[in-house]
Amino acid sequence: MNFLHYPVMNREVLEIFQGTEKKLFVDCTVGGGGHSHHILRTFPESRVIAIDQDGESLALARENLKIFGQRVRFHQGTFISLFEDFDCRRPAVSGILADPGISTVQLKDKQRGFSHTLDGPLDMRKDLHASLTAAEVLNSFSEEKLADIFSRYGEVANARRLAKAIIEKRLFAPWRSTVQLRRLVEELARWRPRPGLGHPAAKVFQALRIFVNQELDGIGFWLEKIPQHLRSGSRVVFITYHSLEDRLVKRIFQQLQLAHKVELLKPFPAFPSQAEVSENLASRSAKLRALEVA
Ligand SMILES: C[S@@+](CC[C@H](N)C(=O)[O-])C[C@H]1O[C@@H](n2cnc3c(N)ncnc32)[C@H](O)[C@@H]1O
Repeated sequence: MNFLHYPVMNREVLEIFQGTEKKLFVDCTVGGGGHSHHILRTFPESRVIAIDQDGESLALARENLKIFGQRVRFHQGTFISLFEDFDCRRPAVSGILADPGISTVQLKDKQRGFSHTLDGPLDMRKDLHASLTAAEVLNSFSEEKLADIFSRYGEVANARRLAKAIIEKRLFAPWRSTVQLRRLVEELARWRPRPGLGHPAAKVFQALRIFVNQELDGIGFWLEKIPQHLRSGSRVVFITYHSLEDRLVKRIFQQLQLAHKVELLKPFPAFPSQAEVSENLASRSAKLRALEVA
């Protein structure tokens, strides 16, 4: 089995799903299949609908989950259209897991262009059928639009200066590689590695990735639809990796609770344990929120 991706906060996810009927789960972001594998193994009566917008991740999940045969069904696409594509009340869905962002497999594949530490094309598309790449954004967007992307999705401090420098550089040669961009960010930040200090390119890459994949689009509406599409007692777990996404999930969960449509499961948000973070550094920014439909 090729589990390059550690399922983040796996124990917490299983504990939450333990309190459901444990029949049918939707893994909205199956990635390498880590969470789905544990769900199928822990709840032997259960089935899983496994979704991912990335065809390569889905192929890996198929391989990793083939031991479960017909108990798992795969679907390529964005989970944002789940409620339109699938009637979750019939058959009753016991639980939904969303663990968006990118997997270690995606991050470590230099051809995908997600990592500022690897030399690759500035691609960053999760869905390789999508048309817009990070390079196209850098080569064609206005200074104003670029600055907005960097500050909105990466909270990059010198967003305007970075946008200006990107435009100046592209007059001489188009943006192509991750290393080109990392070097420019390092130059502007006068970057010197120091222990405990994050690399300034991380936020810039995050901003571009969120924009290229429209990661935040539709999540609010999707969350709002939960009570009308799931039966009472169904549970939803959402794991976020950056504050923009977490603020959105927190706000909608609270609104639903105030409207008495859901119960927030406490004590949440939950964070990964120290032991998990030392085993899997990528989990350090994770926050888990969970609810039960009233
Ligand atoms: C952090 S990984 C998930 C890892 C998975 N939970 C596991 O245990 O292996 C995130 C995955 O979500 C997918 N993804 C992100 N946003 C998505 C969306 N809106 N719809 C479908 N898949 C998405 C990515 O392509 C990636 O494979």
